[in-house]
Amino acid sequence: MISRRLFSTLKCLRNEATQGIARSGTPPRLARMQRGLPQKRAIKDVNKVIAVSSAKGGVGKSTIAVNLALAFAKRGLRAGILDTDIFGPSIPTLMNLSGEPRLTEGNKLLPLTNYGVKAMSMEFLVGKDSHVAWRGPMLQKALQDLLHNVEWGGLDVLVLDLPPGTGDVQLTIAQQIILNGAVIVSTPQSLSLIDSVKGINMFKQMQVPILGMVQNMSLFQCSKCGHEEHIFGHDGVKRTCKEWDVNFLGDVPLHPLINDSSDHGKPTVVAEPNSSRSKAFEDISTEVAKLIDL
Ligand SMILES: Nc1ncnc2c1ncn2[C@@H]1O[C@H](COP(=O)(O)OP(=O)(O)OP(=O)(O)O)[C@@H](O)[C@H]1O
Ligand SMILES: [Mg+2]
Ligand SMILES: [Zn+2]
Repeated sequence: MISRRLFSTLKCLRNEATQGIARSGTPPRLARMQRGLPQKRAIKDVNKVIAVSSAKGGVGKSTIAVNLALAFAKRGLRAGILDTDIFGPSIPTLMNLSGEPRLTEGNKLLPLTNYGVKAMSMEFLVGKDSHVAWRGPMLQKALQDLLHNVEWGGLDVLVLDLPPGTGDVQLTIAQQIILNGAVIVSTPQSLSLIDSVKGINMFKQMQVPILGMVQNMSLFQCSKCGHEEHIFGHDGVKRTCKEWDVNFLGDVPLHPLINDSSDHGKPTVVAEPNSSRSKAFEDISTEVAKLIDL
């Protein structure tokens, strides 16, 4: 099963190579080419693209990316989520989606849909338990496929869930894709903050607008007694925002139900739509929407 899936992905990748996908999308921009930089391309049929990023792993990027996409959909926008974490995809679990995407006649991948949000992930292509160990050109080809070979069918906004760090995938996306902005997620601990500055600098270098930072898991909320505590300090991310002159987009509390909802494939914004937790995500989506003219 897995090998058949992989085969169809590779076949599709190969077809794409011979068909020359570089011809579609925006035309090369002379200035960038003259400077030796790769041309930036738009993702087809998508109005606005934002990347949710963090230089450190496990700080809540995927949780925030998926709830942002769902919050956009809740506002009536046509929203999608693209899982660019090829080695550790989370979106299929968070969105409770599995199975192989159908292909269009032109060999484009059709996203899967749940909760009114379209989604695409490498996991749909290679299966859940396969160990993806692609390197170099294969990784690049797989990434190009996710970025340019999906038939989104018209979206107001696409949220990219990035892998942790500032490696190949992040660099490729920041260099090659026209991004309307990056949202940087951090916890208030200094190690996470130090790393997020690396992320801020990477996006700045690649001329990607930084929409701002989200502080995750600063405020612990006990689900039993409602007791609240700032276990890692309460203003670490705000301080970093001031220091680096970026917006503070909002706070997401550390709450057992946020984790629980994710584990059950029904994220907070759809699982408890009237909670203060859902409101935290929706408030962030409002800030982001303002910043990118949605
Ligand atoms: N605000 C929160 N409250 C409770 N649990 C949370 C919260 N944010 C994230 N988590 C939990 O923390 C874990 C890591 O979150 P998540 O997968 O979103 O992080 P990530 O930054 O995408 O990780 P990776 O770097 O591996 O991609 C998950 O189990 C998630 O459910
Ligand atoms: Mg993740
Ligand atoms: Zn308690």
